[in-house]
Amino acid sequence: MTERELLNQALIAREAAYAPYSGYRVGAALLAEDGTVYPGCNVENASYSATICAERAAFTSAIGAGVRKFKAIAVAGGRGLKADETASPCGICRQVMAEFCDGNFAIILGNESALSCYKLEELLPFSFALEEK
Ligand code: THU
Repeated sequence: MTERELLNQALIAREAAYAPYSGYRVGAALLAEDGTVYPGCNVENASYSATICAERAAFTSAIGAGVRKFKAIAVAGGRGLKADETASPCGICRQVMAEFCDGNFAIILGNESALSCYKLEELLPFSFALEEK
């Protein structure tokens, strides 16, 4: 699976976004080590803090399916269905990534035309971790 293919999956996942409050729609596609792709989208709530980001929705779906090993996540976000903004994962989502992935985990950001790729260690240096897991 190429980076562009995974980002295209995130763009498809974004179509399911439920974002009536912010209007900011985000899709994520999480690539597991076994090749399965888990989609996620942001799901907002009238009680704003109950909102879940697309990235965490994808992780929750995969973990719930018994999968804990991942290679990469692609994230596509912005206002409107054809937004050309690039979303960058929030701090909470980065910390969730750090729970299950090492610093080499790839984070692909972009839209229909742009694509950039980072390692988790670049986006979350000095992450919090406990000894036991
Ligand atoms: N959002 C995500 O889904 N992922 C991010 O990495 C950043 C923010 C969502 C949450 C909320 O529904 C909307 O974008 C605006 O903050």
